[in-house]
Amino acid sequence: MNGTGAAASPRDPAAEPAAVRCAVAAWLDWQAAMGVDCCLETVGAASSAVSEAERVEPAPAEPSRPSPIGRLAEAGPVVGARELARSCRSLDELIRALESFELCPLKATATRLCLSDGNPAARVMLVGEAPGVEEDRQGKPFVGPSGKLLDRMLATIGLDRSRVYITNTVFWRPPDNRAPTALELATCLPFLERQIELLQPAVLVFVGGIAAKALLGASDGVTRLRGRRFRYEPGGGRPAIPAFVIFHPAYLLRQPMQKKLAWRDLLQLSEELRRLGIETGPPRFLPRGGATAEHAS
Ligand code: URA
Repeated sequence: MNGTGAAASPRDPAAEPAAVRCAVAAWLDWQAAMGVDCCLETVGAASSAVSEAERVEPAPAEPSRPSPIGRLAEAGPVVGARELARSCRSLDELIRALESFELCPLKATATRLCLSDGNPAARVMLVGEAPGVEEDRQGKPFVGPSGKLLDRMLATIGLDRSRVYITNTVFWRPPDNRAPTALELATCLPFLERQIELLQPAVLVFVGGIAAKALLGASDGVTRLRGRRFRYEPGGGRPAIPAFVIFHPAYLLRQPMQKKLAWRDLLQLSEELRRLGIETGPPRFLPRGGATAEHAS
C-alpha cells in the first residue's frame, strides 16, 4: 500500500525509490558500455549492489601456506633487488635503478621496461599482472585490449589515468605472454613494494589474482578474493592501506558473464573512495571502440 491507501504497482516507476531507479539506470549503462546484454536478467542485482558492497569483511587475507614468493626471499636476485629498491629515494631513482637492473630474467627477452602509467600523486594505485605485446612496445601498462576495457571500467566510477597510478607485478613482458614465474615475481616484488612506500597511495586495487597473491600473500583464487576488503601492511610502522581485488580485464574479455560481478566490485571501490574523501570525476559510460561520448548518471 502507498500513502493514499492504494496498492502500489511494482511496475509503477513513480513508486520506486529514486536511488533504485538510479542504480538500475547505472547498471544498464554499465551493461551497454561493457557489452554484456546477455546478463540483463540479473538487473535486480543493481539495487542491492551497493548494500552488498557495504557488507564486505574487513579481515586481511590469511595465507594458508607460505607463498612461492616467500620461499624465494633469500634467492640471489631477490636479495639484490631488495637492496637496490631500498636505496631508491624517489620514483625517478627507482626507474633509473630498474633500467640498470640485470637480475630479472624477463629483461633479456622484453623490448623495454614497462613500469607505470598514470599520476604518481594519485591516491589510488592499481597493480596488474604483466605487460603484454602492446605494453612492451609502448613501455606503459594496460595500453592493449585489456587496458582499453580497464579504462572503460574505471570511467564508470569517475576514474581515469589522471586519477590513478598503474603498475604491474613484473615490469618486463614475459615471453609469449606466459604467466610470470615465482622467481620473476619475487625479483620484481621489492620494486613494487618500494613504489607503494614512495607514493603512499590511499587505496590499492589489485587487478587480478596474481597481484593479490604477490602483495597480500593470499593463496585463494581471484573469485574468492574479489568483493572483500583487505588491508595491505606496508611495514616500517606505516599505516595499513585498504586494498581491493577486481577481476582482470583480460579475464572479463574471456568471461563476459563475470562483468556483472565486476560492476559490484567497482561500486564497492567507488563507495570506499567516497568514504575516504577521494575525489572522482562524473561516472562515464564509454562506448566500445574508443569513442568518447559521455553520459553521466
Ligand atoms: N595485463 C596486465 O596485467 N598488465 C598490463 O600492463 C597489460 C595487460
